[in-house]
Amino acid sequence: EYMQRRVRTLPPEATIRELSEVILGARQRLAPIVEKGETIGVVTRTDLINIFARESGNMPESSRMDAKQWNVARLIDERLSEDKRRILRLAGEIGESLGLPVYAVGGFARDLLAGFTSHDIDLVAEKDGLALARELARELGGRVREHEKFKTAVVIYHDETGEERHIDVATARLEYYEYPAALPTVEVSSIKMDLFRRDFSINAMAVRLDSEHYGQVEDFFGGRRDLKDGRVRVLHTLSFVEDPTRAIRAVRFEQRYKFRIGPGTEKLIKNMLPMRLLEKLSPQRLFNEFRLLCEEETAAEALIRMDEIGILKALNERLVLNPQKKNLLKRCKETLSWYKMLFFEEKYQPWICWFYVLAHNQNYGDASAIYDSLGLPPGRKKEITRAREQVRALKNKLIEWQKAYELGTGKTSELRRLLKPLPLEALLYIMTFVNDIGAEKSVSRYITTLRREKPDITGHDLARLGLKPGPLFSELLELALTAKLDGKAPNSRAQLALVKASLKKADQ
Ligand code: CTP
Repeated sequence: EYMQRRVRTLPPEATIRELSEVILGARQRLAPIVEKGETIGVVTRTDLINIFARESGNMPESSRMDAKQWNVARLIDERLSEDKRRILRLAGEIGESLGLPVYAVGGFARDLLAGFTSHDIDLVAEKDGLALARELARELGGRVREHEKFKTAVVIYHDETGEERHIDVATARLEYYEYPAALPTVEVSSIKMDLFRRDFSINAMAVRLDSEHYGQVEDFFGGRRDLKDGRVRVLHTLSFVEDPTRAIRAVRFEQRYKFRIGPGTEKLIKNMLPMRLLEKLSPQRLFNEFRLLCEEETAAEALIRMDEIGILKALNERLVLNPQKKNLLKRCKETLSWYKMLFFEEKYQPWICWFYVLAHNQNYGDASAIYDSLGLPPGRKKEITRAREQVRALKNKLIEWQKAYELGTGKTSELRRLLKPLPLEALLYIMTFVNDIGAEKSVSRYITTLRREKPDITGHDLARLGLKPGPLFSELLELALTAKLDGKAPNSRAQLALVKASLKKADQ
């Protein structure tokens, strides 16, 4: 699957002449050295050039002739907030005093270099990231959460506005994958190896922070060119075998930045899918990655693209999108944008809406199988399937209510009673699929106003009537609200009168 052509190999005793024949003569970029049927190493074209250069004595020492100098110290000053600049300087100074080269990497480096909105800071220190993290936390008056096994840490501190911030700190390392989709074991190594183990060239650049190197970009794998050309590209052919979640990440970045997955990279995803490696992932890893995709503003486009590449089908045949489903995805996007524009403070989880849509019109068993194949944790699954059942039970009632409302007999309090048990995400889902403009409007009215309506009288008013707080309070307040919504008691006086009348009736 992965060799692009027949490869000539050599034994360990091979001479430089034999190496030259393979690498220069047969134009093979590297020669695997094989002993007793096992590959024990490789000699690359660069190795060969270095040997010749050393012998002829007229070539530079370093083999890093590819990395052009690119310094972004000015970009940092122009683009980043005061707080971020301070952290970068500080990390560099600490690195210098501890004798550790320090870099800003990953999503932070990518977004800085591409001019996208700024991302939380990700740092890597060669040799000892934990020492850097501890010192950084001390200087910032924050704390550190360490992950000794992976030699990573999170520095948690408060910026000048009092907001909690996180800085990820890692140790430059080389990871060995024991078998596909397994968690890595860790060994200390250099920044180039650290960058090489990353997913895509655009995420594999580093900005050096210590000493006179401040602002110098390390770009060993053509990340700058790919950023410029808008391309998502892996660093080597086994990337998706090492980490199949990268297939989902590739689509996420492609859609977020309106890039394109490179043709070779897309082929590698398609090669990996029949190996069923996505199934070998732990449900949690799969779910985390899928959920991140569903939290993007471009989730609809990303899901359609995942379908096109075949990733959805590989996860579960039932996830394949038909035209009706694609339409539903677009409508869901519109609903979510509508909700976002309301600027309500209430937190909600858009990914849940996509989970409803992905299992739209499936029966209970099939929806459950879909959710399992996305790694949805049992607690969340219970919550989502329960709401799905509520929505199913309610669908017809809502349409009936709408008809009655349009005829002038549907009561607003009844609409509230129908929709009240549902979580916000389920309400947004109803707006997405309900094929009735009137009903859609009614649900939107419930979300924007009805949901927040309160009676004009309060518990104090009831206490003043000599009542004792208890379940009766909520019953009476509910009575007042119902009358208010249905236009029968528009103000506090009318609502109080209604309460009194009801108490009197109960007494008789
Ligand atoms: N990474 C990787 N393979 C993965 C996950 C992460 O190589 N499966 C590397 C990438 O270099 C990535 C970095 O770890 O840039 C940080 O990962 P993460 O925080 O998940 O992604 P970001 O690039 O920061 O993306 P986002 O903007 O979504 O936070």
